[in-house]
Amino acid sequence: MTSAPITRLSISRPDDWHLHLRDGAMLRAVLPETARHFARALVMPNLVPPVVTAAQAGAYRDRILAALPEGAAFQPLMTLYLTEETDPADVARAHAQGIATAVKLYPAGATTNAASGVRDFDKVRPVLERMAEIGMPLCVHGEVTDPAVDIFDREAVFIDRVLKPIRRKVPGLRIVMEHVTTEDAVDFVRDTHKDLAATITTHHLIINRNHILAGGIRPHFYCLPVAKREKHRIALVQAAVSGDPRFFLGTDSAPHTDANKLLPCGCAGIFSATNTLSCLAEVFDAAGRLKDLEAFVSINGAKFYGLPRSDRKLTLVKGAPVAYPPQIETGDGPVTTFDPGFPLHWRVEA
Ligand code: DOR
Ligand code: ZN
Repeated sequence: MTSAPITRLSISRPDDWHLHLRDGAMLRAVLPETARHFARALVMPNLVPPVVTAAQAGAYRDRILAALPEGAAFQPLMTLYLTEETDPADVARAHAQGIATAVKLYPAGATTNAASGVRDFDKVRPVLERMAEIGMPLCVHGEVTDPAVDIFDREAVFIDRVLKPIRRKVPGLRIVMEHVTTEDAVDFVRDTHKDLAATITTHHLIINRNHILAGGIRPHFYCLPVAKREKHRIALVQAAVSGDPRFFLGTDSAPHTDANKLLPCGCAGIFSATNTLSCLAEVFDAAGRLKDLEAFVSINGAKFYGLPRSDRKLTLVKGAPVAYPPQIETGDGPVTTFDPGFPLHWRVEA
């Protein structure tokens, strides 16, 4: 007997474990897009200047809370931007006082606003050791910046050159490899049984490098780490739908105005907050794994971060293709919404 296809799915309210909200007018425009569907989000600290100290994270959290739409029950979870000057005591205080959930490691120059990131990983060892003691996770942008390494290889090389040494030198440090894009990273996480997890973005489950480069260059698909070849996308989908608790959603929704994307040297970042859950339902449905969507978006990440899952629900309903705005207006100019390239039949019930 074949069961009837699922057309309605009620799950615990999702969390986004990797999100860029920016500040000011951009924050006010993009925050409602996430707050509408998500219970919590881990907010990235790569502002200008970056969110380095507990005091800065607390002030940024206050600005986010102040920008929330009336009545929204959304909780921002904050990260601290790791620099070579970061004070281990300040990090421990931020964690103890519930101001910061995690620390973010950007290799210096790896991506947008990563100039103050880490060059010499031994310099941050005292911070990492303190974090291991107190059980505070490190979120890692896993790409080397060595110009001699091909951009499509930078994640795989990072695993050998940086991640493995950190894990060896600071045992017990809990690490999240953010926005993994390769089969290499998926295999590394799968083969490592302790203190290591990975987030996967919505867009990396949907696009490969052809989408960016074949038949014309598409700046709105450019992000970092850049999407890789199809076999890697397939490995990411397999990891996401597997139910394996070490893989969970971090959208890396990263708004840039169209003016800043459509330049001779455009910014990296894909804005997917608006239609992320419809996109993900489509991916899991196509894989025949709708029943595993909740683990990926609502359960695995909360478990890793030691938080209860949301007690609120979110319902997805399948029907005629849903319309979503191709752009959202912000005080800084329009921001283009991620276009998955196929119709989205799953809508979030209001
Ligand atoms: O594409 C990206 N955009 N990757 C990052 O790591 C940073 C992000 C941003 O802040 O725009
Ligand atoms: Zn990011």
